[in-house]
Amino acid sequence: MTCPRFLVAVIVFLVTAVAQVGAQADATCTGISKDVSCKKCRDNTHKCMPGEVPVDDWLIATAKQQRELQIDEPWNRLQMLDAHNGYNTRAWGYGVNDTCPWSPPNPYPMDCNNYANQEFSFTDLLNMGVRAVEIDNWFCFNEMRMAHLGSTIDLECSVYDRLFSDGIKEIADWINLPGNGEEMVKIYMNEKFDQGNDDSVNNPLRDYMGERILTPADLKNTYGGQWPTPRQLRKAGKNVVIATGSTAGSGEVYPHGGVYIHKIYWEDLQMRYFTSYPQCGTKNLTNALRYYSDSTHYGNSTHLKHDGPTNGAGVIYDFTEFVKCRVQYPATDMITPDLIKTALFTWAEGQPDAKLTKESCVWISKTDWRWYLSNDCSTKLKYACQSTTDPDDWTVSTSAVSYDPSSDACPTGYKFSVPQDGFRHQKLKDASKDNSVWINTTPWLPNGAGTPSCGQLMSLVALLVCLFISNNFY
Ligand SMILES: *[C@@H]1O[C@H](CO)[C@@H](O)[C@H](O)[C@H]1NC(C)=O
Ligand SMILES: *[C@@H]1O[C@H](CO)[C@@H](O)[C@H](O)[C@H]1NC(C)=O
Ligand SMILES: *[C@@H]1O[C@H](CO)[C@@H](O)[C@H](O)[C@H]1NC(C)=O
Repeated sequence: MTCPRFLVAVIVFLVTAVAQVGAQADATCTGISKDVSCKKCRDNTHKCMPGEVPVDDWLIATAKQQRELQIDEPWNRLQMLDAHNGYNTRAWGYGVNDTCPWSPPNPYPMDCNNYANQEFSFTDLLNMGVRAVEIDNWFCFNEMRMAHLGSTIDLECSVYDRLFSDGIKEIADWINLPGNGEEMVKIYMNEKFDQGNDDSVNNPLRDYMGERILTPADLKNTYGGQWPTPRQLRKAGKNVVIATGSTAGSGEVYPHGGVYIHKIYWEDLQMRYFTSYPQCGTKNLTNALRYYSDSTHYGNSTHLKHDGPTNGAGVIYDFTEFVKCRVQYPATDMITPDLIKTALFTWAEGQPDAKLTKESCVWISKTDWRWYLSNDCSTKLKYACQSTTDPDDWTVSTSAVSYDPSSDACPTGYKFSVPQDGFRHQKLKDASKDNSVWINTTPWLPNGAGTPSCGQLMSLVALLVCLFISNNFY
């Protein structure tokens, strides 16, 4: 049943009103929090409160489109944008004493301390499109906390460090928001020593997201040890994978009994060893890699102890080449919506500029190699063709033809398709020899069902009322 017109009008009014209330930037914010127009900062500083970073609809939709393209890829082959040490933000724990400005490419004055890896919280990172988050956990003051275990940065674990359970709850709360329950999320725990206290890790995981976790037993018993795809996971009601390991410490892995936590299944490398496409550092067609960054900086002008960007792992300031190379986890610091934009290769900014229907035809323009909605499907372009045996092998049709997904213009052994990731997108570009091409977006177009039901709209109203209340009574 579709919704009566007046109800739709009321809802549109509410959405607009709440969007306006929500859009106001907090004038007391400083630093990156100010740059992104954070809506609420603590203590007149860069401590942007969780959930207060505005993220524009185009960015949200385009990042989601890209993730959806990977729906039939096994979990360990998915590319997920990764917030390095995502737990360690300027709003909490020792991150509050962070005094550095952040303005690449030459970020730091000598006498400042950058203790935090991120300006923004899990909630905002996930809102922006990050899907891999990282937690260092350290048992101290009788609680499992989020802090850099055995830290080389002169900061001991303290009572100010947020509890591990609070971090897991924040992630779970985000997943439980309407529309987020099918988003694939990876949590990387970096535990360098055996700390025991298994319950302090496993209980919050069980209580906040137990049903959603693909456990090591699920992987073994249900999928025979082969990583399932997002489509399979959705069917099973799962969307979280947690893995642990470490590049530092003994190299041993501490999965707290292996009830929820997998052993690390990828190779960890410092960002400074990465090279651009087509070389791609040591990325090849089959290995799973995480290239990680380090933005931390501390010491003083006579004794600089550490500078992540120059004498540490290096920092990823732009995701473009990591996406082209299909690095599974490009992990970086100080993630903002603008940085996420560098990872996008599908819709051009402002596209699609009309409502998609099941008849829509989409092409990649040779000018910027991005997706555009065509207003004339009879335009003659070459087709994007993917090998039926090797998904990384791309070519284009010999002749340029009108858009018609049912009449396949591709050569034998190839099918009309759409690149499922940045690497394949680049392979198609290489094969196109600077021609614009039609792509087959059929599976990603609306099925024509149209107007939402009243039930769907009413749950949206409930959500908006909650947002309105939380905005005004924080
Ligand atoms: C921040 O630094 C001050 C001064 O050194 C210290 O007293 C305080 O404990 C620090 N805060 C945190 C959360 O570490
Ligand atoms: C890919 O790289 C890994 C190391 O990261 C190596 O073990 C593997 O043999 C390489 N595979 C191919 C097909 O080159
Ligand atoms: C700089 O740091 C070093 C080592 O921590 C310390 O010995 C020295 O007193 C500091 N100098 C200043 C000017 O704070």
